[in-house]
Amino acid sequence: MTPPGEPRRRAGTGPLPPWPRSAPRHGQVVLRPFEPSDTALAHALGADPYVPLIGSLPARPSPQQARQWVRRQRQKHTDGEGFSFAIADAATDTAIGAIGLWLRDLPQGRATAGYAVSPEHRGSGVATSALVALTAFAWTVPALHRVELYIEPWNTASIRVATAAGYRRERLLRAHQWIGGTRRDMLLYAAIRP
Ligand SMILES: CC(C)(COP(=O)(O)OP(=O)(O)OC[C@H]1O[C@@H](n2cnc3c(N)ncnc32)[C@H](O)[C@@H]1OP(=O)(O)O)[C@@H](O)C(=O)NCCC(=O)NCCS
Repeated sequence: MTPPGEPRRRAGTGPLPPWPRSAPRHGQVVLRPFEPSDTALAHALGADPYVPLIGSLPARPSPQQARQWVRRQRQKHTDGEGFSFAIADAATDTAIGAIGLWLRDLPQGRATAGYAVSPEHRGSGVATSALVALTAFAWTVPALHRVELYIEPWNTASIRVATAAGYRRERLLRAHQWIGGTRRDMLLYAAIRP
């Protein structure tokens, strides 16, 4: 497993914490850096109607767009944005999802997390295990006290993932975020350092 580069110092905020020495894991998944060979995941997630609306992955990406998306994931830690992990099957190391811990608000002790699982691997606890692993990793970052999730109210699967991983609903944020050309309400869920 090759950590993707050393963190670059961000203006006014200090460096990101280092890439974890041992990969966060829980249940059937391990969180590892993206590898250039993870383009199949980009194609799987890019075929989902929702995933391309909430990130930088184009819908039905070309091979070049898939490679570029993987490259961007590998670059995010170096660029000081946070940790973009591939969710890999612990038995095969195949990438079956993506989960990120975004650290723009690290100086305030806060992070946000986001996740997506390849459609063919949904419904068997992959996202829940990945979020449990990510949240445990978050508490290894001394400055972090709070991890937030922003979830659309219709997204029952994501709400169940958040709840099962120990996140609590705080409030509804009306017209909070542009998604797919409209402003959407978002539920704010959060986990607090135990
Ligand atoms: C949300 C998402 C990550 C869940 O991944 P997953 O690996 O299937 O999640 P899990 O298997 O850990 O848990 C899913 C839970 O939602 C439930 N669920 C799944 N689809 C559902 C649906 N349409 N309606 C109600 N519940 C649903 C499952 O039964 C399970 O709950 P349970 O464990 O209590 O039975 C996946 O659906 C996804 O990638 N969606 C598109 C991207 C997205 O919405 N990301 C989150 C943005 S906030």
